[in-house]
Amino acid sequence: MRILSGIQPSGKLHVGNYLGAMRQHLELQNKGEAFYFIADLHALTTVKAPDTLRKNVRDVALDYLALGLDPDACTFYRQSDVIEVTALSWLLTTVTSMGLLERCHSYKDKIAKGLSPDHGLFAYPVLMAADILIVDSTTVPVGKDQKQHVEVTRDIAQRFNSLYGKTFVIPEARILPNAGIVPGIDGQKMSKSYGNTIGIFLEGKELKNRVFSIVTDSAPVEAPKDPGGNNVFNLLKFFCTPGEASEWRERFLAGGLKYSDAKKRLYELLSETFGEAAARRRELVKHPDYVEDVLKKGAMRVKPVAQATLDRARRACGIA
Ligand code: TRP
Repeated sequence: MRILSGIQPSGKLHVGNYLGAMRQHLELQNKGEAFYFIADLHALTTVKAPDTLRKNVRDVALDYLALGLDPDACTFYRQSDVIEVTALSWLLTTVTSMGLLERCHSYKDKIAKGLSPDHGLFAYPVLMAADILIVDSTTVPVGKDQKQHVEVTRDIAQRFNSLYGKTFVIPEARILPNAGIVPGIDGQKMSKSYGNTIGIFLEGKELKNRVFSIVTDSAPVEAPKDPGGNNVFNLLKFFCTPGEASEWRERFLAGGLKYSDAKKRLYELLSETFGEAAARRRELVKHPDYVEDVLKKGAMRVKPVAQATLDRARRACGIA
């Protein structure tokens, strides 16, 4: 299994990112040959402030390393350090139909939100295809929202292969089976754009405040409550054992439950899950050179692989 995934450095990572994608990145690093990178070229389609972009890249690197990404077990790099990716991206654009890109949800959603699209935003899935194909990856662990982009990658690779002969491995998306919707503190899907996230590295009072601001209804304590419709329960269940989750379910249904008790438990669970990582992150922040070094070494490891694929593609289509 050759695994590849990219992480957008578009701001503070939150619990929803962890449950949807990061968790499986960490799990998979020892199960195959894994390549993970920080997608700074993709971020340029939305982040147009250089200092913010630099800071975001550093933050994401710190977040992943703190959470246990092991730079010896996998190859961890910055997308823009591997210039071969952009070269391959152009070759791929020439076999990508406009219609394929016009159908992409993520593009359509951003337009619907009023973003005035630049060409980069439109071509975003082609760059993503280059990321994936350049290391001959077989397996692409992503959140549900990226599934369509992996399908686009497969279409592009197939088209190239059928025009020019077998050049690329056809990859598959890997979506966590039981991920489910992760609610934010207001009950909508947790997302940076809704401002309803719980940050992974919040601690102590800040974390407590965030958890206690999760929206619940005003049912009296004694009333039986629907766990499935409760944002605290719907978060809690991701972090406790199945046994504990069913205990909470019963307590909700039985009545007599104070939401603040469930919130207190959620706070504990989040502290337990992420506490060590937060401590590690505080240490890592003091060593920016180490982090930079990890990324540079990662780039050196992926480059020969990328060069070989790019050469193959160039030869196949007749420019080498
Ligand atoms: N588009 C992905 C996201 O927003 C990030 C990404 C870029 C990616 N290139 C990739 C993911 C290649 C998987 C494979 O989450």
